[in-house]
Amino acid sequence: MKILVTGTEGYIGSLLAPILMQHGHEVIGVDTGFYKVGWLYNGTELTAKTQNKDIRHITKEDLQGAEAVVHLAELSNDPAGQLSPNVTYDINHKGSLRLAELAKASGVRRFVYTSSCSVYGVASEDYVTEESKVNPQTAYAECKTLVERDVKLLADDGFSPTFVRNATAYGASPRMRFDIVLNNLAGLAWTTQEIKMTSDGTPWRPLVHLLDICKAIVCTLEAERNIVHNQIFNVGDTASNYQVKEIAQIVAEVFTGCKLSFGDSGADNRSYRVSSLED
Ligand SMILES: NC(=O)c1ccc[n+]([C@@H]2O[C@H](COP(=O)([O-])OP(=O)(O)OC[C@H]3O[C@@H](n4cnc5c(N)ncnc54)[C@H](O)[C@@H]3O)[C@@H](O)[C@H]2O)c1
Repeated sequence: MKILVTGTEGYIGSLLAPILMQHGHEVIGVDTGFYKVGWLYNGTELTAKTQNKDIRHITKEDLQGAEAVVHLAELSNDPAGQLSPNVTYDINHKGSLRLAELAKASGVRRFVYTSSCSVYGVASEDYVTEESKVNPQTAYAECKTLVERDVKLLADDGFSPTFVRNATAYGASPRMRFDIVLNNLAGLAWTTQEIKMTSDGTPWRPLVHLLDICKAIVCTLEAERNIVHNQIFNVGDTASNYQVKEIAQIVAEVFTGCKLSFGDSGADNRSYRVSSLED
């Protein structure tokens, strides 16, 4: 399958693109290269050819012959999203919707959108499922819910969007992210031998290895259309919901000698446990 993947130079995309190629797919990459300077290591056997372009400027020509789009390229976390909410809405909501519309108009049949479990925000249930009410708390999370809402309306016999709501990823990638919780704490433990939390660490977070996110995307693309058509899937493991303080304690144990302290309850009120069970 010929697949246009946006965000091929990011944390997930730099591993997903070679995995798709190993599965025999042809990958065309698009990425602005915002974080290329933060490249941590080389080492993937295959590298997708990536066009240096903003998703807001993708044209029909860029999509020519593509059978699927996997859309990763957005401003990808809450703090970055809050820096300038207008830019976040412009790229993450409007830019993503425009890309889906263009893909549909260009005859692309599958559109995989990397949403996030952050749409659940402050959860009102013990374990949230795909049917639970969303409650986004930030511009980043709100954009995810808006893209899901708007792209769902584009689905028809010829265009099948699928929304993968990923838990918070962890694990090594050539373009490493140290801003996400487990990577962040492990980075602090290794470099400073100290985790000094400003919050009490009580909020819940679901974790998932980034290679499992890649696997979920490959499965979505290769699944029969009727199974994934216009569906939302939580991507995680129901057994891998942790309170942030538990994650910190585990990291501090693994990195022997790491000091650990907690603060008062913090400003971040997001807390959700996610069910990723099969039906
Ligand atoms: N990593 C996680 O824990 C996680 C969890 C849930 C959802 N997601 C979603 O998965 C996707 C990929 O996440 P990631 O961790 O690889 O993020 P990332 O920030 O590492 O990668 C995003 C890539 O997109 C590019 N990009 C950003 N804006 C662009 C634009 N306007 N045009 C073209 N390229 C642009 C960046 O240069 C970067 O290489 C994002 O949509 C993110 O919201 C990630």
